[in-house]
This record gives sequence, structure tokens and C-alpha cells, in this order.
Amino acid sequence: MRDEIRKIAQSFETELASAGSADSIEAVRIKYLGRKGLMAVLMAKFRSLPNEEKPLIGKDINLLKARIQNALAEKKEKQRSGPFPKKSYTDVSMPGIRPEEGKLHPITKTLSEISDIFISLGFNVARGPEIESEFHNFEALNIPPEHPSRDAFDTFYISENTLLRSHTSTVQIRIMEKQKPPIQAIMPGRVYRPDAVDASHSFMFHQVEGLMVDTSIRFSDLKGLLSLFTKRMFGAKTKTKFRPSFFPFTEPSAEVDISCIICGGRGCRVCSHTGWLEILGAGTVNPRVFEAVGYSPRKYTGLAFGMGVERIAMLKYGISDIRLFFENDIRFLRQF
Ligand code: DAH
Repeated sequence: MRDEIRKIAQSFETELASAGSADSIEAVRIKYLGRKGLMAVLMAKFRSLPNEEKPLIGKDINLLKARIQNALAEKKEKQRSGPFPKKSYTDVSMPGIRPEEGKLHPITKTLSEISDIFISLGFNVARGPEIESEFHNFEALNIPPEHPSRDAFDTFYISENTLLRSHTSTVQIRIMEKQKPPIQAIMPGRVYRPDAVDASHSFMFHQVEGLMVDTSIRFSDLKGLLSLFTKRMFGAKTKTKFRPSFFPFTEPSAEVDISCIICGGRGCRVCSHTGWLEILGAGTVNPRVFEAVGYSPRKYTGLAFGMGVERIAMLKYGISDIRLFFENDIRFLRQF
């Protein structure tokens, strides 16, 4: 019996060594460990041994079986992982793992482009609260009680005297309440209006307000400043047009158009075939606003402007629906 065990061990070693493929390894396994394999035959013989021989022979058989099982498993593993030792193998031709890169939201990007231009011209950046008093949102800006924007359908009221600011012009008042001229600041932030949401309306959007106050600020300063801004923002060929308009807090007031950045002014769908796009409101500060904050209208003059960030981002990036900014669809946001 001992001899037989040794012979099986030897033949197993040689046969396994010459088994090159997965199939031939499996054939060796069946020959030795299969239900009718050599080890099974050996076990049958073992059972008919006299009891006193069983412990020693049994031990040898068990050792052989374990050795066969381990050798088979090892060879199978080697076979599967190919000719290279598994642990140290690095395929340098494989593409690397690309870390997911964070991106700025297109509104944040547009806002910082706008800010950079004004900062380079000497403007400070100021912020104010989104929950505001009626005084800062309306009265101080010379917006009379009967003005339509004061209606509950045009402003989110929190209580009789507090509301979600409907424009960033409120921050003009807050700055002037706190400091004396000269003032040169832009004021970015969120504003709120109870508008029905559609492709061009949102109940929340962003504005950038601008204010300059000193002893000799004129309308021509406003024209020069905003012409320079639009050229830097939309390209050197951009033309600017000041259309007479009305805002209670500026006098005179203007709406500012730029030559269409899509068609260059020839007329297209984006500019409704007019060649022009409206981008902001502006004017020289109404003396009544100075009175509301305790500045002498005789001593000081100023310019002010306000623009919608979403509108500018939509024009600049060719986005046709404002809702895309707020839906958090990563496929949209990845493009910027
Ligand atoms: N506050 C105005 C709005 O929300 C925008 C605006 C127009 C701001 C003229 C100004 C300005 O500072 O001078 O529609």
C-alpha cells in the first residue's frame, strides 16, 4: 500500500507538470480526484485494511490528497493569470484612472468673468442681504407705492415690511448708508420674483448691480464704462446702443443693447431680426436716491447699472432655456 501511494504521487507530479492547458489540468484532476479516480480506488482499498494498519496509511493518504488538491489549485491559478506573476504585473499600456474633475457652474463662471472686468477697472465687490426691507427694495430707490413691481404678484413678501429682494439695487442703498463717496462697487447676488417658470423666467435669478458716486460722474462716464465692459465681455467688435428708458432710481435712464453676438448685427432668430440684444438697465443716479441716504444731491452725482447674469450666460454660451441652470443635470453642467 505504501508503494502504491508513492507511485501515485510520482505519476501525479509528472502528469501535472506536462499539463499545459486548462483542459489537460482538468483531465489530471479527474484522473486523480474524480469519483472513480485513483484516490477513490485507494480509499476503497484502505477500507479493507486490517484496523491496526489504518492510522498510518490513512495519514499518508490524507497527505497525498491534500498535496494533489493544492498543486492543482496552484497550477490553475498560474494558468489563469498568464505568464506574469500576478501581483507584480502592471500593464503600462492600460488607460489610467481619471479622477473626476470638479467644474464651476456656468452662472458662477459668468459672474466671475463680469466681476473680473469691473475689478480690473477699480471696482470693489459688495454684497447685501436677500431678505430685505421694503425701504431698501422700494422707497429709498424712489419706487412709489403705486408702482406695479410693489404688487404681491411681483414680489415675494415675508411680512408687511420684509420681502425677498426683487433686484440687487437694494445694495446700492446699503453701501451709501454705510459710507461716504467716492464709491465704485459692483454688487452681485440672487434676486426673487414670483414669475411663472418658463424657458426665459425663473422665480430666482442672479443680477450684478453697479454704482459709482463722486463729485463729477456724468452720463458720458456711464457710456464709456459700459462700452468697454461689453467689448471685454462679448468681444472687441461688439457695438453698444443706449436706448432712452425709465427707472425710478436713475434720471436719465437707458436700456443698453449690444450688437447681436450671434449674427453680428445682420439679424437672426436670437435677436428677433433686429440685430440688437438688450443686456442691461442703467442711468445716472436720481437725486432722490441721494436724499434717501443723506447725500447732498448738489455735491454728488453718480451712475448705476444692473444686469441679469442668466441672460448674459445664455447669450454667451448659446443656452436657450433658463431652467437648465437650476436642474443640476450633470450632463449639461459638464459642458462648461
Ligand atoms: N433694478 C433694475 C431691474 O431689476 C435693473 C437696473 C436698471 C439697475 C437701471 C440699475 C439701473 O442700477 O440704473 O430691472
